[in-house]
Amino acid sequence: MNPDVQQAVIDSVDPRCRHDPYRAYRVLRDEGAFVPGPLGARLVPRYTEAAAIMQDPRWSHAEERELLHAESDVELPASFLWMEPPDHTRLRGLVSKAFTARTIEGMRGRAERLVADLMDKILAAGEVDLLEALAYPLPLTMVCELLGVPADAHEAIRSMSGGIARGLDPDALLSPEELAARTRSVHEFTGFFGDLVEQRRARPQDDLITALVQAEAAGVRMTTTELLGTLLILVVAGHETTVNLIGNGVLALIRDPGQFDLLRAEPGLAAAAADEILRYDAPVHLTTRTAREELTVSGQEFAPGDSVIVLLASANRDPEAFPGADRLDLTRYASGRQDAKTKRHLSFGLGLHYCLGAPLARLEMEVAMRAIAERVSAITLLNDPPPYRPNLVVRGMSELHVRVEG
Ligand code: HEM
Repeated sequence: MNPDVQQAVIDSVDPRCRHDPYRAYRVLRDEGAFVPGPLGARLVPRYTEAAAIMQDPRWSHAEERELLHAESDVELPASFLWMEPPDHTRLRGLVSKAFTARTIEGMRGRAERLVADLMDKILAAGEVDLLEALAYPLPLTMVCELLGVPADAHEAIRSMSGGIARGLDPDALLSPEELAARTRSVHEFTGFFGDLVEQRRARPQDDLITALVQAEAAGVRMTTTELLGTLLILVVAGHETTVNLIGNGVLALIRDPGQFDLLRAEPGLAAAAADEILRYDAPVHLTTRTAREELTVSGQEFAPGDSVIVLLASANRDPEAFPGADRLDLTRYASGRQDAKTKRHLSFGLGLHYCLGAPLARLEMEVAMRAIAERVSAITLLNDPPPYRPNLVVRGMSELHVRVEG
């Protein structure tokens, strides 16, 4: 393999390259549809093959835990993210009603009030770490309230969930301390939610945990481990990702003042902006799939058990799929502007495991972007470039210090 490509393979998974993995992705896309990668898997950097694999049920996601976490001393509770039908269908079906576009739309008022309060504080302070001041509290509060986690436990949830999110990265990339932190976080998480489940069994409330407990009581088969696994994926996927989306969005607007001016002039673009930011700087950079049978994709053959690492964030920047792929264009997904040729981004995945929380993430991002458009006249970056967390799968900054003017 040519040394530049070899280096790009290393960089695409190197924690030190988290501030800009896109240069490596470009080299990989130029190299081919499939590039030999780590863990014996092939990297998939282009859009066509990434979308084809994600949509094809002959590729399974159930092997990911074994592929990435073979060295684990702790079982991450089995969630339906890592299952295939019929278990996937049974467990996803239990929570899917809570995430329909209509149910989530009912949460708009709460999201708007929350963002209005946070924006008041941000504007009063003038200088803030925007991750702390907006990007964390909004999705954390929304998902905790949906589930029924009491307000005084939100911070504890955040800390457990942070340890688990880092632990989603391949074990080979984690230090002994990070592996230990994951074990601790999983134990804390299952202890905390185990107690909350018992409380809801005794005294039902109007929340998602009660709904799950009642579905179980009504005869839907669900083990305690599955129940905890479902809660774990909702909490971790439900806010770690959206935190990064909001952070990435604000950074993208700071880096492109023309697009910020456009959004300020047309706050109605907030929903389209959310999707373009999802495409431009995806919060979830990769996922894996394993062939269930002999398969051929774009002329490449795969035997049963062969795995691929689908580089979602790279596919989103493929110029063959998105004209001006490296340019932020907040009108790309605007109604009236999209046409049959406008490709959907892969940031929420595609197919069977398509992100359950996409309507909630979109709502939160739209409300945040609209508030920024309507209430902020200028944002200046105070730590340029901002530092990134080492996380590979759920990628994002660790701080975003800014001056915000109303
Ligand atoms: C910007 C925010 C978000 C991003 C970028 C994101 C991304 C993703 C991606 C890429 C997948 C598919 C993984 C795969 O196929 O391998 C996924 C699945 C999932 N997401 Fe999200 N997510 C976000 C927000 C949320 C929220 C707010 C929730 C819930 C509260 C959530 C819950 C889930 C669940 C439960 C799955 C598993 C679906 C299944 O296996 O059927 N996500 N997400």
